[in-house]
Amino acid sequence: MGVDAIVLAAGKGTRMKSTLPKVLHEVSGVPMVEHVRRAAVTAGADRVIVVVSPETETAIRELLEPLGVLFAVQSPPLGTGHAVLQALPLLQSEDVLVLCGDTPLLTGEMLRRTVGLRRSASADAVVATFEPTDASGYGRIAREGDAVSAIIEDADCSEEQRQSLTEVNSGVFCFRRESLASLLPEIAPNPKKGEIYLTDMVSAIHRNKGSVRALSGLREEEFLGVNDRWMLAEASRFMRISILRKLAESGVTIVDPASTYVGADVCCEPDVTILPMCTIDGSTTIGSGSEIGPNCWIKDATIGRNVRIFMSHMDQAIIGANSRCGPFSNLRPGAVLEAGVKIGNFVEIKNAILGEKTSVSHLTYLGDASVGARSNIGAGTITCNYDGYQKSRTTIGEGAFVGSNSTLVAPIQIGDGAFVAAGSVITQDVPDEALAVGRGRQENKEGWMTKWRLRKQAESEEAGT
Ligand code: UD1
Ligand code: CA
Repeated sequence: MGVDAIVLAAGKGTRMKSTLPKVLHEVSGVPMVEHVRRAAVTAGADRVIVVVSPETETAIRELLEPLGVLFAVQSPPLGTGHAVLQALPLLQSEDVLVLCGDTPLLTGEMLRRTVGLRRSASADAVVATFEPTDASGYGRIAREGDAVSAIIEDADCSEEQRQSLTEVNSGVFCFRRESLASLLPEIAPNPKKGEIYLTDMVSAIHRNKGSVRALSGLREEEFLGVNDRWMLAEASRFMRISILRKLAESGVTIVDPASTYVGADVCCEPDVTILPMCTIDGSTTIGSGSEIGPNCWIKDATIGRNVRIFMSHMDQAIIGANSRCGPFSNLRPGAVLEAGVKIGNFVEIKNAILGEKTSVSHLTYLGDASVGARSNIGAGTITCNYDGYQKSRTTIGEGAFVGSNSTLVAPIQIGDGAFVAAGSVITQDVPDEALAVGRGRQENKEGWMTKWRLRKQAESEEAGT
């Protein structure tokens, strides 16, 4: 029993015009080959073997080896059958799925059905098929009743076959391992192309009185194979809509699907609302009752319940329940807001922890800082955390008040309940409950302006005569 999956990824992918191996290009924030691996695992694969080329091996290994994937190297690439041959020695299970690394929309559910049919029909192989709008380039399915007798590659079809055979090979197969292992090594290269075609396994099984069945009637979209960047964009469009639909089905309100991008690994609790023009990516999680957008860019953030984020940018930030951010706030890596924090417009937070119910409402930079609960940071406060050589920390206590336009020169500590007068440059620690004033003292000169104006008037009259 058991299932192994072979993922073919040794093709050159030249049409991508990229230094990155084709299968590592991302669809909804996840590399294509990783989508395929996940589908295989969802379908119950115990072992996933990726067939790579020497050129792409290192980069693909780096991504997939930590996930337990095995590798077979194919060099030179002599066809899909030749690629599968390289993986044969690693196979152990009774069933073998063969998939392509550049078809990111495959679903685990469909693969499970493919394996299921192989077993229930006790067939030697099952091929997943569909009827495309344009069959050119695909291998055509030749049938004898329920059984598939051959797959004829487009280039080898007669004109009559090209017209009459409308069902095509999706590229997804499930083989009985014994059949694959005994027949694949016997297959001769295709006379026209000189490649060993995996699709010739079908006629080989048929000749040996075995049986091949088709899982038919599948949607063309699911098998979209990415050859160039435009197809990558098409795949991303399909995946984006399918992610949004799943979110909607799980209780998330998507106000405008056309302008909403959510990555494949984002998790939202029910009753999240996403307003138009948002990109939410990476490993972001969003708690129930939160409302995001419009116009947000959010990546790898952890957002609690009943949070409101409005026209803001956020990378690896942690946002506590009932907090509010925006418009125009920028939360950078290491920003941690406890519950009920308020971040307003043009506020940048980096590597800083803000305690419960603290408020930073306008025009402020807090970097390498910690602020206690219920403090108020006035408009225009700046932590001077960098002297050109090193970063230093600012620590502000609970219930502190930092007046507007204050400059806090780190390293610095401001105590609990302390008060910094507006416009101060703070270079010395401020004790608990102290008032710190760090600015020039104001002087009022009585009647000075009247005298000044009279003098200026006299000067201009003199010049005019
Ligand atoms: C293949 C099928 C065709 C099917 C179509 C579906 C064959 C002979 N034909 O055609 O019946 O309708 O897919 O998309 O199988 N690869 C390798 N090593 C190689 C050659 C290919 O790893 O030596 C990999 C490619 O990277 C790719 C996959 O196999 O991921 C399919 O190869 P491709 O050349 O795209 O096959 P098609 O001509 O599209
Ligand atoms: Ca192809």
